[in-house]
Amino acid sequence: MKKIVIAIDGFSSTGKSTIAKQLAKTLNYVYVDTGAMYRAVTYYALKNDFIGDGFFHEEQLIENLDDVNITFKFNETLGFAEVYLNGENIEKDIRTMEVSSFVSPVATLSEVRRKLVEQQQLMGKEKGIVMDGRDIGTVVFPDAELKIFMTASAETRAERRYKELLERGQKLSYEEVLENVTTRDYIDSTREDSPLVKADDAIEIDNSGLTIEAQVQSILNLINQMIEK
Ligand code: DC
Repeated sequence: MKKIVIAIDGFSSTGKSTIAKQLAKTLNYVYVDTGAMYRAVTYYALKNDFIGDGFFHEEQLIENLDDVNITFKFNETLGFAEVYLNGENIEKDIRTMEVSSFVSPVATLSEVRRKLVEQQQLMGKEKGIVMDGRDIGTVVFPDAELKIFMTASAETRAERRYKELLERGQKLSYEEVLENVTTRDYIDSTREDSPLVKADDAIEIDNSGLTIEAQVQSILNLINQMIEK
């Protein structure tokens, strides 16, 4: 069967990764979470004190980018690939509020984007890939056969994220999560390099009231129509 590239973009916490993971599993495709790559660079910057409360030593981060080696390794038990930084599994460390608060400024740096986009394009060379992020349909794979743009209200997204963080044992208020979600949306959509915008040929899905199953099924229908052509 013909393999295609599926690009899923959208605002933070729209459930892109949940949908992308399920699609990849059903289609036997590779799933790549590009947000995890920007989070990995942010984790590296935090560990090395290049960024923190009230400071961002952009030049130092840029100078040290060659030391940032991001890889993915499939975890059979979890059913998806976990992210590694220089050989260390950092899958859990990148999902904290601390990383979430600093990732958008890190993702504005063109040097960071250039490095990660190059790696992402290599990963998709053989097709048969589902990649989610902010600029997949516009910059990474402008020729992707299927582009999805996911949206949902900020409140719906903050609520989902809040529940997720609580389940992971992180103590914080709903208001803090909502603030993080809206701030990231703003920075991600207004940055100069590869801002978050819907590609002209992307299909928009507002999933505020949709179940995961319904979303996956409607995307699978689109793919089936496409592959049959
Ligand atoms: O998908 P996520 O919330 O884990 O992404 C974290 C941040 O990384 C997001 O706020 C913006 C940035 N990002 C990006 O700029 N481009 C991508 N392709 C993916 C994520």
